[in-house]
Amino acid sequence: MFSRLSVSIAKQAGKNFSTTSQNNVKVAVAGASGGIGQPLSLLLKQSPLISELSLYDIVHTPGVAADLSHIDTPAKVLGFNGAENLETALKNADVVIIPAGVPRKPGMTRDDLFNTNAGIVRDLAVAISKVCPNALVGIITNPVNSCVPIASEVLKKAGTYDPNRIFGVSTLDVVRAQAFIGEATNTNPLDVKIPVIGGHSGVTILPVLSQSVPSVNFSQDKIKALTERIQEAGTEVVKAKAGAGSATLSMAYAGARFALSLVKALKGDPNVVECSYVRSDVTAATYFATPLKLGKNGVEKNLGLPKLNAFEQTLLEAAIPELQKNIKKGEDFVKNN
Ligand code: NAD
Ligand code: LMR
Repeated sequence: MFSRLSVSIAKQAGKNFSTTSQNNVKVAVAGASGGIGQPLSLLLKQSPLISELSLYDIVHTPGVAADLSHIDTPAKVLGFNGAENLETALKNADVVIIPAGVPRKPGMTRDDLFNTNAGIVRDLAVAISKVCPNALVGIITNPVNSCVPIASEVLKKAGTYDPNRIFGVSTLDVVRAQAFIGEATNTNPLDVKIPVIGGHSGVTILPVLSQSVPSVNFSQDKIKALTERIQEAGTEVVKAKAGAGSATLSMAYAGARFALSLVKALKGDPNVVECSYVRSDVTAATYFATPLKLGKNGVEKNLGLPKLNAFEQTLLEAAIPELQKNIKKGEDFVKNN
């Protein structure tokens, strides 16, 4: 079930990059008791690359931490409950992963979560600016397209903003694209590589199927159908869960993969590339996901837009205005609150 991640955890165990970089890595999860937070924390606890796992939430973290701390892997697990313990939880974290906030119910858009989740992300970013301003921060909370600008504006106000360190986690879109194309081509999905660029909602999710490795050879109708399935995959899960939330297990897998990529980059692995939604000058949208080479300081090099065919160009044109609207909404929230 967790094969790509298990393969990568097994590889980490055999390969130690710590001679070129830091030995101890503290990872904090904010929202650690939730549907994503718990399995994500479990997957992170499995990694021998993490020395401290700090679990923060407004409920239940002592129990989650006690439970995970009985697993026989090196990471020391500590749980912190409630806003009064937030700064202690995040203090000197190297990586902060944020799945805090409410998920969708059927009929809602991700943007419908803005009113609740914007304030949660803002408050977490304030704490990050104070106690771990150099952390690499991965934001899972929706709407990702607006939450990354929110965190960025808060850090700017605090004078601790480094655009190379703030990431919107769009890894689930890549994971889904690889799963669906693997299934459609009868290929082991572990052998499929697909860049997914843009943002993380509906038309802003832009799977670049023309750059699939191995290449795919479908009719244009099939490409369109697969593209739309990837764009609407979150809604597929929301509908199937019928009121019980949105993707949690696949997101935990994707979030752990992204978090561990940040950790590997911190430890000096020179070959870490992930697609992620970051501050960008690649398109007219000021935040945009593209493949990124990751290093000790976060984004080492933005690898830019993959080559797009005519169909993908039209997808890009549809994505930009929606992204610009989502970005402005996030930036305005910080201006006005
Ligand atoms: P959930 O309700 O199961 O868990 C959210 C957790 O956040 C809860 O434990 C809650 O107590 C905690 N929380 C609430 N306010 C907090 C605060 N101020 N500080 C710390 N923790 C707080 O929800 P979930 O299913 O885990 O989803 C979490 C978020 O992730 C949602 O916004 C959802 O839309 C988003 N999501 C994003 C992706 C993606 O691809 N980026 C995928 C799936 C879900
Ligand atoms: C997803 O893509 O599964 C998440 O963004 C959750 C959602 O609301 O769809």
